[in-house]
Amino acid sequence: MTPELDDFARALAATEEALDWELLGTFYCHEGGTSFFPDEQVAAIREAGLSIAGVLGDELARLPRGGGRSLYVGAAVAELVPILVERFVLLREVVVTNVPGREVQELNRGLTEASIKTGLELPRITTEPLDSITETFDHGWLVSVLNDPEAFPALHDALYGRSGELATGRGNLTEDKERAEALAEALLGRLAPEALLSTTDEELPVLRPLLARRGMHMVASEQGLLTGIVGDPLRFLRLRQA
Ligand SMILES: C[S@@+](CC[C@H](N)C(=O)[O-])C[C@H]1O[C@@H](n2cnc3c(N)ncnc32)[C@H](O)[C@@H]1O
Repeated sequence: MTPELDDFARALAATEEALDWELLGTFYCHEGGTSFFPDEQVAAIREAGLSIAGVLGDELARLPRGGGRSLYVGAAVAELVPILVERFVLLREVVVTNVPGREVQELNRGLTEASIKTGLELPRITTEPLDSITETFDHGWLVSVLNDPEAFPALHDALYGRSGELATGRGNLTEDKERAEALAEALLGRLAPEALLSTTDEELPVLRPLLARRGMHMVASEQGLLTGIVGDPLRFLRLRQA
C-alpha cells in the first residue's frame, strides 16, 4: 500500500469509527428512526463513495495541471469518501461547505476526533457563505443540493416531477428557483475557465441555462453513478469557457 492510500484508509476508518451513526440517522428522512445507518448501510455508502471517487479521479486527471483545488457545496455523509480520496490520495486541496446544523456539527466533531487519533489533517465543513471564499477551483461539487426537499421544496417537486402524496407540497417555485440559481451562480463564479463540475441529472435543468449564460461549454460524462444515500445519478460535467 502506498503512503497516500494508507493515510486515506486510516482517515476513513477513524472517521467512520468516530461518527455517531445513530445520531446521523435521525437527521435523514426515513422510517424506523435510528436504524437508518446500520453497519451494512455504512458499508454501502463507503462502496458507493469508492466507485464515485474512482471515476472522479480519472476525470480530475484530464484537467490541465495547476489547479488542484475542489469546492464541495452541500456535502455531507455521502461525500466523506470522495473528499478524503481527494485530500489524501490525489493530494488536492478541498474546501467543503454546507449550512449550519446538527449534521454538520456531528460530521465536524467526527472529523476532528479522527484528526486527533490519526495525526492527519482532515478537512472540516465550513458554514461560511460562498461569497466569502475567494480562491479559484478546478473542481466544483454540487450533488443533490438544488433538489434538496428541505431547502428548495417546490423546486424539489418540480425537478422530480412529483405531485400529490409524493410531493412536499411546500414552498414557492419562483422563490426556490431564485435562491437555487443564486447558490449555483456563487459556485460557478468560483470555477476556473476549464473545470470539472460534479452534479446530478436532476440539477441539470437549473444549471444548463446558467452555464449557457456564462458562455461555458459543457460536455457531460456518459456514465451516471448512483449516489450513496439519495440515490440520484451523479454526472461529471467538463466545462470550458467558450
Ligand atoms: C439532500 S441533501 C444531499 C446531501 C449530500 N450532498 C448527498 O448527496 O447525500 C442536501 C444538502 O444540501 C445542503 N444545502 C441546502 N442548502 C444549502 C446551501 N444554501 N448551501 C450549502 N448547502 C446547502 C443541505 O444542508 C444538505 O446537506
